[in-house]
Amino acid sequence: MSALPELPDHQLDPKLSAFLKAMPKAELHIHIEGSLEPELIFQLAKRNGVSLAYPDVESLKAAYAFTDLQSFLDIYYAGASVLQTEQDFHDMAWAYFKRAKADGIVRSELFFDPQTHTERGIPMAVVMAGLTSACERAERELNMSSGLILCFLRHLSEDDAMATLEEALPYRDQFIGVGLDSSEVGNPPEKFARVFARCRELGLHLVAHAGEEGPPAYMASALDVLKVERIDHGVQSIHDPALLQRLVQSQVPLTVCPLSNVKLCVFKDLQLHPIARMLRAGACVTINSDDPAYFGGYLLENFRQTFAVHQLNLQDAYQLAKNSLTASFAPDHEKQRWMAELDALYAGYAG
Ligand code: HPA
Ligand code: ZN
Repeated sequence: MSALPELPDHQLDPKLSAFLKAMPKAELHIHIEGSLEPELIFQLAKRNGVSLAYPDVESLKAAYAFTDLQSFLDIYYAGASVLQTEQDFHDMAWAYFKRAKADGIVRSELFFDPQTHTERGIPMAVVMAGLTSACERAERELNMSSGLILCFLRHLSEDDAMATLEEALPYRDQFIGVGLDSSEVGNPPEKFARVFARCRELGLHLVAHAGEEGPPAYMASALDVLKVERIDHGVQSIHDPALLQRLVQSQVPLTVCPLSNVKLCVFKDLQLHPIARMLRAGACVTINSDDPAYFGGYLLENFRQTFAVHQLNLQDAYQLAKNSLTASFAPDHEKQRWMAELDALYAGYAG
C-alpha cells in the first residue's frame, strides 16, 4: 500500500475519503426511531394532529444538548410519539434507507423499540407492517439488504419484555433478532435472562447494549448470561484489560458509535474516544451511527470524523468494512459477494 501524505490534523486524504464512501459496508447499530429528523417529526406531528412541546424545528434542535444517555432518551421518546400509522413507520425507515444508500451501506440491521409504540396504543401490527414494507422497498428499489432487530426497553420489567415478545411472535418471520436498549445503569443484562433464553430457543439472533455507560461487568453478563452474539457499544471495555483481551480472543463484534458517545458525554471529545486503541488491540470493532438524527451524523460522517481525528488509514478502513460485513447476520452468499466487492475495491485503491 502506498503511504498517504502527511496532512494537518482533522483533514482527510481525498483518496481515503472516497474509499470510505465507496466501500461496501454494513450498519449494525442504528435505532430507526433515532433516524427521525426534526423536519420529519414536525411533518408527522402535523399529519397526525400531535402537539409537540417545541414550537418549531429550530427550538427542537436547540434541545439536542445532551449531558448523558437519559437526557437523550427523554427527548428521543418524545420525538417517537409522532409515529402513529403504518405510513409513518414506512416514511421514517425509507428516509433512513435513502441516506444509508448514499453512504455506501449495503446492509442495515435496524433496531426498533416496539414498547415505545405499543405503550401509546399503537398496535404491533402497525409497527411491523410499516417497517417491513420499507425494508422490502429498500431491497427492491435500492438493492439494499436489511433485517429488523426488536429491542426490549431495559428500564421496563422482564415481564413486559416477555409480553412484547409474545405480541411480536405472529410476525416472527419479519425480524431476525432481539436486542436490549434504553437506560443501562441499574438495569443489568441479568434482568432479562429468561426472555433472552426464550428468544434463543426461538432461533433469534441475540445482541445487547452493554458497556455504553454501564460497567464492564455488564458486558461479561451480556455474554455469559444472555449469550449475545454481538455487543452494542462495548466502549467501557477500555477500562478492563482482561475483558478487552477476552473480546479480542473471542472476536465478539462490538458495534461502536463514536459520535453518539461524544454527544452523550461518554467521552469528552472524539480524540479521547478509545476506538483506535480498541482497533489496534485487535478487537472486532465496527463503526455505526446509533441515532443519527440526534447525534450529528450518519454512518459516513462517523467514519470521516473518526478517521480524521485518529489519523486512521486505508487498511483500517478495509478492516472496519470487513468487520461490519462478517459481523452482520446477512446470509452467507450475500456476505461473500460484498467481501469480493470490498477486496476488489481495496486492491484498486491500495495498489
Ligand atoms: N443507548 C441506549 N438506548 C438507546 C440508545 C442508546 O444509544 N439509542 C436509542 N436507545
Ligand atoms: Zn444504541
